[in-house]
Amino acid sequence: MVLPSISLLLLLSTCLIMCTYFNFTRAQGGLSLNFYDSSCPKLESIVRKQLKKEFKNDIGQAAGLLRLHFHDCFVQGCDASVLLDGSASGPSERSAPPNLSLRAEAFRIIDDLRRRVHNKCGRVVSCADIIALSARDSVFLSGGPDYAVPLGRRDGLNFATTNSTLANLPAPSSNTTALLTSLATKNFTTTDVVALSDPIMDKTLATNLKTTCPTANSNNTVVLDIRSPNSFDNKYYVDLMNRQGLFTSDQDLYTDSRTRGIVTSFAVNQTLFFEKFVSAMIKMSQLSVLTGREGEIRANCSVVNSDNVLLSSVVGEEQGTSSAF
Ligand code: HEM
Ligand SMILES: *[C@@H]1O[C@H](CO)[C@@H](O)[C@H](O)[C@H]1NC(C)=O
Ligand SMILES: *[C@@H]1O[C@H](CO)[C@@H](O)[C@H](O)[C@H]1NC(C)=O
Ligand SMILES: *[C@@H]1O[C@H](CO)[C@@H](O)[C@H](O)[C@H]1NC(C)=O
Ligand SMILES: *[C@@H]1O[C@H](CO)[C@@H](O)[C@H](O)[C@H]1NC(C)=O
Ligand SMILES: *[C@@H]1O[C@H](CO)[C@@H](O)[C@H](O)[C@H]1NC(C)=O
Ligand SMILES: *[C@@H]1O[C@H](CO)[C@@H](O)[C@H](O)[C@H]1NC(C)=O
Ligand SMILES: *[C@@H]1O[C@H](CO)[C@@H](O)[C@H](O)[C@H]1NC(C)=O
Repeated sequence: MVLPSISLLLLLSTCLIMCTYFNFTRAQGGLSLNFYDSSCPKLESIVRKQLKKEFKNDIGQAAGLLRLHFHDCFVQGCDASVLLDGSASGPSERSAPPNLSLRAEAFRIIDDLRRRVHNKCGRVVSCADIIALSARDSVFLSGGPDYAVPLGRRDGLNFATTNSTLANLPAPSSNTTALLTSLATKNFTTTDVVALSDPIMDKTLATNLKTTCPTANSNNTVVLDIRSPNSFDNKYYVDLMNRQGLFTSDQDLYTDSRTRGIVTSFAVNQTLFFEKFVSAMIKMSQLSVLTGREGEIRANCSVVNSDNVLLSSVVGEEQGTSSAF
């Protein structure tokens, strides 16, 4: 009686170790699909439920959250450094010129989700993971594909300089060569580049932008609510084929022979676009992530813990979470 149950136990624990190992290695960079399964099982439902509420109020926030993830990951990796306030060491990433189009509401929504999640589970989930999940839910809740996000990112302890922010975010004036070159440094393929190119932008948006962009004799700013309630689909690629791309970085994708075929294939086949988009997003979401004992789990997404007055009495920061180890 005793022996069989011991070997059963051994078998079970071997399996557990192996399963954990395989789950752990399926994603790159030390992330895993089941990272919070024991430490915060409600994480994904808390985020999705709350974002449904936010988007019911204003679907435009989905675009803001998706773009926030892009700006976070491209500059110094997906470490939530884009959320940090500036400090004595210099102005924040957020105050670099490309910040003008990041929505203030996106920052509020992320820290609100962080508060809800930490209230439920304690300080175990990083702001960087909350951004990655919010980007995924933004895509899904606006009509795009759903996909599993590898988790376990840690929050960065510092933010990038303005120069580095500018160097890592391609300008809308970039032609395809510049885009491909810039994104190749982050290991993105030509297909990834096309799939990641402003999929949310639609014709109404482009037309509206053209009439509201600042000119010499007006003070117009690109107001954020001109966007039609966006749905996540492949219409952008149809627009490019009809030469209705807004920026050089968009329209040149259809002009350039290296990317034209990919644009066409996405325009005629949304399933293909979704498939390639998901693959590129998962790649983006794992750029230079901090894991294990690197970085920290911020108690407030806009300040590092050492500058957080509410935490100042805590002696010895927690190191790592045990759930994936
Ligand atoms: C490849 C190079 C890219 C360039 C040059 C670029 C450029 C831009 C520009 C200039 C805007 C308009 C900002 C404004 O004035 O409102 C914009 C908006 C946007 N971009 Fe990109 N982008 C790029 C890649 C991406 C990626 C990878 C994503 C996400 C996967 C993304 C998501 C978005 C979204 C969702 C918006 C709308 C934001 C909002 O409505 O708040 N972009 N992009
Ligand atoms: C955006 O950056 C500019 C400088 O480029 C700065 O003056 C402005 O305060 C920043 N805005 C926000 C919301 O951080
Ligand atoms: C930032 O870039 C500009 C232009 O390339 C350069 O003149 C400046 O010295 C750089 N600043 C820093 C702090 O590296
Ligand atoms: C693309 O832009 C770069 C500058 O960013 C320029 O040197 C190059 O000539 C451009 N290529 C084409 C084909 O227009
Ligand atoms: C790109 O891939 C190479 C080789 O696999 C790797 O050494 C490098 O760190 C990767 N770069 C990024 C930004 O992920
Ligand atoms: C733009 O704003 C400035 C400062 O508020 C104001 O003096 C100017 O008259 C405005 N110009 C237009 C065309 O509205
Ligand atoms: C569209 O793309 C999907 C996914 O790659 C593929 O399975 C399907 O056959 C394609 N449909 C057509 C009509 O080519
Ligand atoms: C987070 O930190 C910012 C900046 O110090 C502060 O304004 C904000 O009130 C803090 N949020 C919470 C929930 O403590």
